[in-house]
Amino acid sequence: MLTISGVSKTFGGRTLFEDVSLQVNRGDRIGLVGPNGAGKTTFFSLLLRLNEPDTGLINFERGTTVGYLPQESAPVGDETVLEIATAVTPEMHELRRKITAHENGLATADEEHDFHIIQDRFNELGGYQLEPKAKQILAGLSFREKDFNRLAREMSGGWIMRAHLARLLVQEPDLLILDEPTNHLDLESLQWFQDYLDNYPGAILMISHDREFLNNLVKWIVEIRSGSLIRYRGNYDDYLLQRAAQEEQLLAAYKNQQKEIAHLQEFADRFRAKASKASQAQSKLKQIERMEKIEAPVSDLKKIHFEFPQPIRSGLKVIKLEKVDFAYGENVIYQGMDFEAERDQRIVLVGPNGAGKSTLLKILAGILEIQGGNRELGHNAKLGYYSQHRVEMLKPGRTVLEEGLDTPQRVTEQFVRTVLGCFLFRGDDVFKRVSVLSGGEKSRLALVKLLMDPPNLLLMDEPTTHLDMSSIDALIDALHQFKGTLVFISHDVYFIRKLGNHVVHVNAGRLTHYKGDYQYYLDKTAATSARAALTSTNVGKPAAKIVAAVKTSLPQPSPNKEAKREEAEQRQAKAKELRDKKSQVDKLEKEIALLEKRRLELTAELENPETYAKGGAASQINRELMELEETLGRLNASWEAASTHFLSLQDGKA
Ligand SMILES: Nc1ncnc2c1ncn2[C@@H]1O[C@H](COP(=O)(O)OP(=O)(O)OP(=O)(O)O)[C@@H](O)[C@H]1O
Ligand SMILES: [Mg+2]
Repeated sequence: MLTISGVSKTFGGRTLFEDVSLQVNRGDRIGLVGPNGAGKTTFFSLLLRLNEPDTGLINFERGTTVGYLPQESAPVGDETVLEIATAVTPEMHELRRKITAHENGLATADEEHDFHIIQDRFNELGGYQLEPKAKQILAGLSFREKDFNRLAREMSGGWIMRAHLARLLVQEPDLLILDEPTNHLDLESLQWFQDYLDNYPGAILMISHDREFLNNLVKWIVEIRSGSLIRYRGNYDDYLLQRAAQEEQLLAAYKNQQKEIAHLQEFADRFRAKASKASQAQSKLKQIERMEKIEAPVSDLKKIHFEFPQPIRSGLKVIKLEKVDFAYGENVIYQGMDFEAERDQRIVLVGPNGAGKSTLLKILAGILEIQGGNRELGHNAKLGYYSQHRVEMLKPGRTVLEEGLDTPQRVTEQFVRTVLGCFLFRGDDVFKRVSVLSGGEKSRLALVKLLMDPPNLLLMDEPTTHLDMSSIDALIDALHQFKGTLVFISHDVYFIRKLGNHVVHVNAGRLTHYKGDYQYYLDKTAATSARAALTSTNVGKPAAKIVAAVKTSLPQPSPNKEAKREEAEQRQAKAKELRDKKSQVDKLEKEIALLEKRRLELTAELENPETYAKGGAASQINRELMELEETLGRLNASWEAASTHFLSLQDGKA
């Protein structure tokens, strides 16, 4: 139904695609993957003719209908949520508008006169069936009944995206083109959406960084890599396996070829001087020339690495809420709510959709005024709030560098450039305007601005939105080093597991604080799925009861609270010990490798006749070698001890 052939696209000297081709057939389920800034969104814009390719052809089979969900939301006019969801064609939209006008007594005389024609046409196009379908889909995407007739522009960007998504599903085109559709969904609607797409009658082409989502839905992965499109059969995990195997093969082939080249070259070098063998030497050189050279596989994507300045230390009590009341108009969210965070805690907020997690974060940030009770910031506490909103604050006309320089504290251009470089804004990238940045690049820029002068109380609402997998890992690393307090919301279980050491469950205005990591929380609440637990309302009921309801065989009588807490603490202490040992082993290995390399260099020098021509050089090298051997011996002994210890710890854990 869609054929792409020989397409190339370049932006300001950077080639995003070179001569790429792809065929999409009816019923296909394709996931498009690649790091932030690889050109995924640009590729979609080419398909939709929002952008022209430099060369190549893009052809849709005649009559194919296409629906597109952009990565970032388009501005909306005066439509209600339901109007957006049912506006499947301009004609439908217009007919519906006239009918609503009639119902509200706002129709013009002409419209009133033609009302029956309008109504018949609307009916003929299936307009009346559209609405129930739209409502069902909106409900699946977590809209409440009372939101259906609200003006969309009064809602946040995430909800507007959902309304557009609903429209696409109502419209049911032959080909759905979705750019990171899960970014704005909470877990419940994510699950609903996944099931819906699973039964979708048309073809789907989508970009996503959500591994689980891709695994559940796609049958093909297309990877954008160094300007090419590479197609793999299977889901995301299958793709990872195939790619790893491919890389291994390529590396082996490359090494073999290099060996052969070295061999031929050696032969040629040795015999070139001898007249009798000169022609053979020549032919070996020719042979090398004729070989089709295998390129060394580029080691995976560039890695982000960032060490940010550490904030000043806060007091032990960082922030405290006491008997706090908060309501949006009539909608009471909290009444007499208490919350406390202590230094160095990394608290993750979990709980069902709409429970008030983001509200709590905004209360902590002081963005929302509390209507009763106390909010107290501890000694020396300096807070910073991060959400998608921060990304939206970036000014489209500014360059990356200008944005980086625009921070409250004084920073040098050199410093800003170094930090930007760590987040993969290299060379001319810093002169790009915000308006052309990809979704992930914008998120990274906003994070850079925050981390350049980090507060010691960091409040983050879904910080991984738009980030690709390696950027998420980099953010986890950065937050691990961060010496301060973190309170965050995320629907990424991987991210939560890596960071959270306290869990606060928010439900119906009640907070339950679990003083352990995410696993501890799961054990405690007897949740069966890590993902489902994020939205669970079951928490707070005695664990044993839930378990009894789910399983017939009860686990051991549940030990008391204190014992469980101790158990979790022990588990954490053990995990930390294991981590520390591992990093000690790694460090020793690195040192040993360095020394071994140096040893090789020194021995090579000793073998070189020229060394002996320089007076005293040889004996100096010998001395260094002896010292080096001694250090190596010591390091090797430590390494052996450390790795034995590490292994025994690991076994003990298993
Ligand atoms: N009009 C433009 N002028 C110059 N560069 C551009 C323009 N549009 C996009 N780019 C650059 O092209 C690259 C690809 O952008 P694109 O939005 O396609 O990335 P993406 O793969 O969708 O990334 P993400 O995962 O972050 O959404 C980015 O580096 C972006 O800065
Ligand atoms: Mg994109």
